[in-house]
Amino acid sequence: MKIRDDIKYVGVNDHKVDLFEGQYVVPRGMAYNSYLIDDDKKVVLDTVDANFGEEWLKNIEEAVKGAKIDYLVVHHMEPDHSANIAKFAERYPEAIIVSSAQAFTMMKNFFGDDFASRRLIIKEGDTLSTGRHNLAFVAAPMVHWPEVMVSYDTTEKILFSADGFGKFGANDVEDPEGWDCEARRYYIGIVGKYGPQTQALLKKAAGLEIKTICPLHGPVLSTPEEIANAVTKYDIWSSYRVESPGVLVAYTSVYGNTKTAALKLVEILKAKGCPKVAVADLARDDQPEAVEDAFRYGKLVLATTTYNATIFPWMRHFIDHLTERNYQSRKVGFIENGSWAPMAAKVMRKMFENSKNITFCDTVVTVKGALNAESEASLEKLADEILAD
Ligand code: FEO
Repeated sequence: MKIRDDIKYVGVNDHKVDLFEGQYVVPRGMAYNSYLIDDDKKVVLDTVDANFGEEWLKNIEEAVKGAKIDYLVVHHMEPDHSANIAKFAERYPEAIIVSSAQAFTMMKNFFGDDFASRRLIIKEGDTLSTGRHNLAFVAAPMVHWPEVMVSYDTTEKILFSADGFGKFGANDVEDPEGWDCEARRYYIGIVGKYGPQTQALLKKAAGLEIKTICPLHGPVLSTPEEIANAVTKYDIWSSYRVESPGVLVAYTSVYGNTKTAALKLVEILKAKGCPKVAVADLARDDQPEAVEDAFRYGKLVLATTTYNATIFPWMRHFIDHLTERNYQSRKVGFIENGSWAPMAAKVMRKMFENSKNITFCDTVVTVKGALNAESEASLEKLADEILAD
């Protein structure tokens, strides 16, 4: 893949990873992007996952036809990008490692070496000239770790954006859903907690003319439409705004009765004209996808059973995922099931006590075992409340 005549893609595609970052299913694989600036000075931008060190080094070698490399820029120290720093340093003993001070501390922790004799510590505002190209460094703390820097090639107007604007999926597999879906699941899942920090980066980027975005995962964004869409979506996601009208109904069910209640609500919502109703069985469906939908839509209904005097574990897990990512500014309704002492709604509501600007529906649907006429009438009321603005 050629980004420019003298900027090449040297990353790799991973089709073996079972869970990215130990928790995300990636049915279309994963890409660990790395770029080479083949200028007077030759610069490699980031390494790749530990399992692909040799493939990546071969990509570099072929791209520069065996020439020496002058610099390795490390934008981010998470091992999916940094695992091969020591291997690279050994292969290219004259190369200077370029990164933030905090990244070098992490290198010491990961590799027992902070490359003190051959490093260049950069901070926001510093630049690195390679001949025709000039990289300007911009700090992007907590997008997604504290040491993150992004860089902007002032010559070609390229933003090397680290994890920002990344996406699940290998680059050699076409994604029929386009960019948004897996970019959203990636952003909400991985960076979602750090909305204010992402907003800060967007503000810095707003002052730049950007012709190309080269992230560390997923496709290079190179048309004005792709870039505008990505920036707009990041602005929505990182400010916790509602992206599309709709409701997510997320449930857990032990014997199927809570599921029946949840699906009955879905039917009622659709009958009342709700533009989009997403449904998730939290024990069986992909939880990060459900988390993504909870942030995408403005309304959420949670249905679960009372269990061990609290709630069913998958629901607890789900709400934790929401609240730790600063879930906010949404309307939430509850369906609880309990055969003798239902208390799930109270437990769920309490879990949101530190979440900002949550509007709870007054109607709580209580099912005692199985739906009956009374609880069905209650579902109708809940549907009206959830759909009201
Ligand atoms: Fe792709 Fe935060 O590492």
